[in-house]
Amino acid sequence: MTRPLLPPQVSPPTFTWAAATPADAGVVAVPVLSHEDGPMLGPGSVEPADDLDVFAALAADDADGTAGQVTRLPWRDRVLLLVGVGEATPRDLRTAGAALARAVKGAEQLATSVAEVADDAGLRAFVEGLVLASFEFTMRSTGPTARPVERVVLLGTERADALARGLAVAGAGWRARFLATVPSNLKNPQWFVEQATEIAEAAGLGVDVLDEQQLERRGYGGISAVGRASATPPRLLTLRYRPSGRGSRKAPHLVLAGKGITFDSGGLSIKGAELMVNMKRDMSGAAVVLSVMAALAEVGCPLRVTALLPLAENVIGGDALRPGDVITHYGGRTTEVTNTDAEGRLVLADALAHAVADLEPDLLVDVATLTGAMKVAMGLRIGGYFATDDGLAGHLDAAAAAAGEPLWRMPLADVYAERLSSKVADADNAPGSAQAITAALFLQHFTGGLPWAHLDLASVGDALEDREEWTKGPTGFGARALLYWLEQAEPLAGVG
Ligand code: BES
Ligand code: MN
Ligand code: ZN
Repeated sequence: MTRPLLPPQVSPPTFTWAAATPADAGVVAVPVLSHEDGPMLGPGSVEPADDLDVFAALAADDADGTAGQVTRLPWRDRVLLLVGVGEATPRDLRTAGAALARAVKGAEQLATSVAEVADDAGLRAFVEGLVLASFEFTMRSTGPTARPVERVVLLGTERADALARGLAVAGAGWRARFLATVPSNLKNPQWFVEQATEIAEAAGLGVDVLDEQQLERRGYGGISAVGRASATPPRLLTLRYRPSGRGSRKAPHLVLAGKGITFDSGGLSIKGAELMVNMKRDMSGAAVVLSVMAALAEVGCPLRVTALLPLAENVIGGDALRPGDVITHYGGRTTEVTNTDAEGRLVLADALAHAVADLEPDLLVDVATLTGAMKVAMGLRIGGYFATDDGLAGHLDAAAAAAGEPLWRMPLADVYAERLSSKVADADNAPGSAQAITAALFLQHFTGGLPWAHLDLASVGDALEDREEWTKGPTGFGARALLYWLEQAEPLAGVG
């Protein structure tokens, strides 16, 4: 089959610092704070205000400093943007950065004094918003319809660490969006392995790949069964991050597993046309984990982290997994497959079992677009997660809130445990309602009693429209939340 070529993609904007507005900056953005007595210009904004009545312009625009408002006016030979930053909280600044990104599409250089009203958390949020709302993906024959601003000059005293963290986290979100957006006639398991290998080499990560024969021989029955009918066979990709510094070999070990279904047709329990449309993004968990892995060194993660990414295409063929088949997972546990569309848990089960049996992890986290039920429960703006450990849950809650990727904890309710029972095997893969909960309970059997969190991000994998830092299409949701957790000095404080 001929695969489409992926044309060159646009790059995110680059950032530098300067003490004064460069003469060649065509767009200058000045922060406007909301205040009970009316909008206030931020401290770094004196210069453009000199010969302009910015307050008249704001009033004419009904602008009161609310985060994300943008008032545009000509100033000398430039464009001046008055950007609402609200109360300059990180959330306000993320929104302001995103609004600014949209206002300056196509521009070469933006200089902004917004950093002057931002603390470090606010600055990185501003950068994250500005980068992520610039995201574009194109396979048009005519190239991208819009280009992100090329360069952003932050006015003020350099704050290298806050900027670097913002860029690392935003870059992870960008990369996860990119991977999830690539169509599945290009993005098969081997394509993902090739992308990941390149990324891993650049990031200094260790890489291992198992092909379909190795998977079969070593007993990865879930991955093998789900990927069996595809013309592009399954893979299991392992990535390894080791922190630098003394004692790092003894650092606690986290295993991150990510669902990597490069297309989910449902298999023989086939999906309807509508439900299949967005299933190129059913590898979002793997994309998020890969993107997080590539950024761990940049944010200084102190843990050892191993990523396990089971990659498979869930399609049909004469060799396809059938409803009623019984498969044997890595390590020997068996599953009766009553619905081939509940494939994510089958591949993740192998990955978790392998982690527990062979990798001596201290804790496990998996990331998956696992159940449509999550959309019903959460709507499209909140992700769900399950955790066996309150300390771990606390870290995830805090990181998710700070990163702007809200997660809500769901119950691992053992009242539903009996629904997993099968007449012939250790478990049934599609025990029915409560779908998200029973899926989590299914996975829990493979976690060896270790502290574990399961992120079911089916609800938030796609944005229906451009809003704040989100762009219509795949979201890369989860990459930022995980990095805000893993950059902590002690990500496991209070866990276990
Ligand atoms: N990939 C889907 C879940 C999904 C649905 C992700 C919508 C994103 C948006 C998953 O493999 C699936 O098909 N789950 C089934 C499970 C059922 C058959 C037990 C579902 O949720 O309907
Ligand atoms: Mn499915
Ligand atoms: Zn799926």
